Amino acid sequence: MNEQIWTKVDDYIGERLAPRDEEFEAAQQAAADAGLPSISVSPLQGKFLSLLATMTGARRVLEIGTLGGYSTLWLAWALPIGGSITTLEADPKHAAVARATFQRAGLQDVIEVRLGKALDTLPKLAKEKPAPFDLFFIDADKANIPDYFSWALKLGRKGSVIVVDNVIREGKILDATSADANVQGVRRFYDMLAKETRVSATALQTVGLKGYDGFALAVIV
Ligand code: SAH
Ligand code: DHB
Ligand code: MG
Repeated sequence: MNEQIWTKVDDYIGERLAPRDEEFEAAQQAAADAGLPSISVSPLQGKFLSLLATMTGARRVLEIGTLGGYSTLWLAWALPIGGSITTLEADPKHAAVARATFQRAGLQDVIEVRLGKALDTLPKLAKEKPAPFDLFFIDADKANIPDYFSWALKLGRKGSVIVVDNVIREGKILDATSADANVQGVRRFYDMLAKETRVSATALQTVGLKGYDGFALAVIV
């Protein structure tokens, strides 16, 4: 079992369940053309986010870490009329590519990109006293996952769902003495989850065209 077969299986299932769509292809092409790193969710992971949005009946989504907007498009796909996404991005180039992608898809009134480090833009957002968000996708720098999760608890409500990407890291999270800030961020996050009585949570290991990683899922109880 290796990465090659995981990729082939992702391709096989992806062809059937996450068929190539013009807007999604254009989004990935624009990101590649602009030199953005290819670290977006995979098509089947995007479909997973989309299904979660559908299953939870999400109308208001908060994403942390936009990149070129590929995961955002999948989330937008599942929204009802009147639904909206706020997505936070620190890199001006990534934000510009994402905004152009949302414009091209006709979603400029549905998706708002807020430029800046999320630890700066989240308190600003909170000051606006927004209606609670139904679904959170945390996918920015991993060192700050614990803080992003705390913000999600503040900006959510009972029943809100919080999804966190990249919380397995090829098993590197087992290394308590790791010098990798991402690993330490994820480890602090699990310790936090273990003590947090306001959520019920799990984490799922995944393999596929993005290698070996996984998602954490939490619901505010
Ligand atoms: N969710 C995207 C991938 C996001 S990659 C997708 O699946 O399509 C992570 C993104 O987080 C990058 O664009 C990076 O610039 C952004 N990021 C990193 N640190 C950040 C921070 N402190 N605040 C906001 N965004 C940040
Ligand atoms: C990286 C970030 C991601 O969100 C991801 O899914 C994969 C890789 C990264 O920063 O390398
Ligand atoms: Mg990710």
